[in-house]
Amino acid sequence: MKRRSLLTWLGLGWISSLIPVAIAACSPDKSKTTSVQGSPTTSANSPNAEGFYTIGTVAQLDNLGQIQTTVATDKVVVIRDPANPNALFAVNPSCTHRGCTVAWSKAEKQFACPCHGSDFAPDGKVLSKPANKSLKTYQVKIAGDMVLVKAT
Ligand code: FES
Repeated sequence: MKRRSLLTWLGLGWISSLIPVAIAACSPDKSKTTSVQGSPTTSANSPNAEGFYTIGTVAQLDNLGQIQTTVATDKVVVIRDPANPNALFAVNPSCTHRGCTVAWSKAEKQFACPCHGSDFAPDGKVLSKPANKSLKTYQVKIAGDMVLVKAT
């Protein structure tokens, strides 16, 4: 083998040995999980043994006034009940009229649809039409300092 060919092969071998390292460095870190007090370790993409997904912290909920996320395949918004701050509501923000995304207004204490004006109570019940069906709701709870939602 000529010297030039040998160097080319060695160079290609060295470069190909780096490819798995580069791929691993660019992959998401799947080892990041959240420990929930009294519950098995879980991640945002997998439920615990009771079917609850950890979606964030109580501090996030209180700082932002809401947590928006996706649980399984559903969009979910979690808020505190304005009438009882110890209680939470979790609703799917897809308007039941034609599917626009409703927005939570802490000041008005309701979800409002920007498309045709439907309003929904914190628990998802219809306050004003044209929507005539409540927002989909989910079980939600606090465990330790984490907020958990059960997909249905
Ligand atoms: S899509 Fe919400 S009121 Fe029409």
